[in-house]
Amino acid sequence: MNPTNHQLRLAARPSGLPEPSDWELTSEPVPQPHANQILVEVSHVSIDPAMRGWMNDLPSYIAPVQLGDVMRAGAIGRVIASEHPGFAVGEHVFGLFGVQEFAISDGSGVTKVDPSIAPLPTYLGALGWTGLTAYFGLLEVARLGAGETVVVSGAAGAVGSVAGQIAKIKGCHAIGIAGGAAKCRWIVEELGFDAAVDYKAENVRAALRERAPDRVDVFFDNVGGDVLDAVLTRLARGARIVICGGISQYNARQARGPANYLALIAARASMTGMLVFDYADRYAEATAELAGWLREGRLVSREYVVEGGVSAFPEALLKLFTGENIGKLVLTVP
Ligand SMILES: NC(=O)c1ccc[n+]([C@@H]2O[C@H](COP(=O)([O-])OP(=O)(O)OC[C@H]3O[C@@H](n4cnc5c(N)ncnc54)[C@H](OP(=O)(O)O)[C@@H]3O)[C@@H](O)[C@H]2O)c1
Repeated sequence: MNPTNHQLRLAARPSGLPEPSDWELTSEPVPQPHANQILVEVSHVSIDPAMRGWMNDLPSYIAPVQLGDVMRAGAIGRVIASEHPGFAVGEHVFGLFGVQEFAISDGSGVTKVDPSIAPLPTYLGALGWTGLTAYFGLLEVARLGAGETVVVSGAAGAVGSVAGQIAKIKGCHAIGIAGGAAKCRWIVEELGFDAAVDYKAENVRAALRERAPDRVDVFFDNVGGDVLDAVLTRLARGARIVICGGISQYNARQARGPANYLALIAARASMTGMLVFDYADRYAEATAELAGWLREGRLVSREYVVEGGVSAFPEALLKLFTGENIGKLVLTVP
């Protein structure tokens, strides 16, 4: 067994985009589990836009990562030592193991994953928080109805790509907003979206007038900013906007709110923030349904896997903000 645990710690709080000096690589001996603990050898780390928020010293739905702490991250790994009755050596698990090669856990929040059902990275994609966010955001928060027009931003990303596919599975008209021709082609040709809008090359408002002539019933928003403002001008009566995220604002010193929010009045529309963690008691049921769609070939999970171990994390995180990833961004460890 590797006697050393390489870890990535938060060294400074970024202002704007995270910089190399915001991180510190450390190493320490691999710890051994005590009673009711497991030792996990991490293989895949989930890289999420939310991490940028966790680096700020601001109150939110979860405590900030403290300076000097191992960076918080969802990850997949294998149990290599167990003093816990619920976990056996050799089992694959998902948990908040952090950006490090080995993690000790008491099992809280740890779920088992089955590599015979899907490849391990997929448990960070469609069968992980990503898929669950899309699932509950559309089906519970938006209460999607068949035949509705659904617009998804960040549509070629992890959550957005699953959201648009769920909209299609539920008999909706799905339009994705994404940056660049390659992403727009992928969501239409491979994922089955009805149409795409390239927000980097097109006027989103004009494109939606053309591609969603009956206006927008549900907007699943991952990006905020100008894209949100543009969609606000195209709402159908009774529209529901799901605020899943606002990545365009995550590195801003002062987040900018929507200028066109008064459109909610005429449309009798609602805008609701959501957090996937609120649905934790229903993850198993939702994962089973998502796994069924994957098995039937109705849902595609794509992961953008970066190699290089924990030292590659700082650069890999930036890919979310440059839009380099298609699908779920995953880092392999070591
Ligand atoms: N509420 C929840 O419980 C929950 C859970 C998970 C994720 N989320 C949120 O869901 C959103 C998507 O997360 P994800 O993991 O699926 O990430 P992702 O979409 O796979 O990756 C981020 C994507 O955002 C786009 N982007 C980056 N900067 C942008 C900008 N300035 N304007 C517009 N688009 C920009 C890029 O795509 P383009 O090339 O298309 O620009 C990039 O590929 C994030 O906002 C995240 O915080 C929320």
